[in-house]
Amino acid sequence: MFYLDKILKISERYLLKTFSKGRLDEFLKKIAYLRKSKNRDEIIKSFSEIYIQFVKEDYQRQYQGVNDKLSTFIEKKDNGIKIIWGDCLKVMQGMKSESIHVMVTSPPYYNARDYSQWKNLNEYLEDMRKIICESYRVLDNHRVFVFNIGDIFDNDNLKTKSVWGKRRLPLGAYFIKIFEEQGFTFVDDFIWDKGEVQTERHKNGNRPYPFYQYPANCYEHILIFHKHRLDNTRYPCPICGTLKVNGNTQSEIGLMSWECKNLECFERSKSNRGKRFSLKTLITQSHQSKEYEISKDFIKKWRRDVLKFSPVIKINSRGENVLGHTAPFPESIPEFTIKMFTYRGEKVLDPFGGSFTSVIVAKKLNRIGIGIEINKKMFRDASLKNIKKSLASNLSNNKFVDISEFNYAEKKEKNNNWFKRKTFFSLWRIFSVF
Ligand SMILES: C[S@@+](CC[C@H](N)C(=O)[O-])C[C@H]1O[C@@H](n2cnc3c(N)ncnc32)[C@H](O)[C@@H]1O
Ligand SMILES: [Zn+2]
Repeated sequence: MFYLDKILKISERYLLKTFSKGRLDEFLKKIAYLRKSKNRDEIIKSFSEIYIQFVKEDYQRQYQGVNDKLSTFIEKKDNGIKIIWGDCLKVMQGMKSESIHVMVTSPPYYNARDYSQWKNLNEYLEDMRKIICESYRVLDNHRVFVFNIGDIFDNDNLKTKSVWGKRRLPLGAYFIKIFEEQGFTFVDDFIWDKGEVQTERHKNGNRPYPFYQYPANCYEHILIFHKHRLDNTRYPCPICGTLKVNGNTQSEIGLMSWECKNLECFERSKSNRGKRFSLKTLITQSHQSKEYEISKDFIKKWRRDVLKFSPVIKINSRGENVLGHTAPFPESIPEFTIKMFTYRGEKVLDPFGGSFTSVIVAKKLNRIGIGIEINKKMFRDASLKNIKKSLASNLSNNKFVDISEFNYAEKKEKNNNWFKRKTFFSLWRIFSVF
């Protein structure tokens, strides 16, 4: 018997549970070519990959809000430098579910900059909650979101707007709570030591007495979150390729684990247990060859959860902002994220793009960088210049830094305008008769 037929025979009842009749026919058609193959490992690998893809597509179809033009833009094979101008909440609402491999960002820190302002802290946190909720949907399952945020000293504008209303706002703590409430698991908090402080704040005129001296804030958080959406779909055993697997205890909250029950499977443990695996290990264990290795030095650098590196120096000796953005983060943050949590060719999304540091680093590391930024007028020229400058030296001489841009216009907005225009013309026509 051909090995593919063996897999199908053992898996038949489970395939019928997972797919609708029509979908199963499509699946069988898609894998039929494997019948010709004599390479058992290839059959198992391809069967599993196609199966995972089909399950994913079924899941993605449950979400109705996809913007087709945006989807085409994101999936289009181009240079892998993709900039989307628009509000990240609205943009992400137009994206397919679980279509992004990693997220990394640094949001606006409440009212710290002129370009993003809120009436009070609660409105800010509410906006961030919606964005994090949408991030959870677009991020692929069992993947990671790296979130850089600093605690700040500001007025929450909840009780008073006077200077006395200023207090330390532990944004890091607030964000952890929001992420958890939206379904993420909080995994790590790197303390990024930003080095020496120049500020005179909190020194109270240098009076050397009790209660006058307080430290200056010289660190930020780099928070790591996992997404584990509990998915009870059976996945094929990586050893025999069949779906004759039973649920095992979850290896982490939300991470379904399986044990192979096919007695003809080629691997059993010493205690005679079948292969145990999860959707996550199917991904991680198939990417362990030399080409995916991370250098020892890099792992060592990120071994401690207190790290020191300088913030970005954006002002030159003439006092000009050379980056055109007042709050870029250092390349180290996306570099860590991308090297530790993605493979070559995968999609990296930064919803608060700014000067697009994440996109630049993604490109340098041969991933697809996608950045969303709301303030096009303010940042476009400087940001595009920055991307070109940063990547020019990275590419061989004759290569052009080809940036793909997309202006996100909401469907609704267009419809509204269309409706307004239509109403206007109808009225105009009625009146023009008189
Ligand atoms: C802290 S900066 C990010 C800087 C970025 N990491 C870099 O290296 O340049 C935050 C950015 O988010 C943008 N922003 C604020 N609200 C946004 C929203 N709703 N959608 C997209 N971008 C937004 C701001 O204009 C700002 O450029
Ligand atoms: Zn097996």
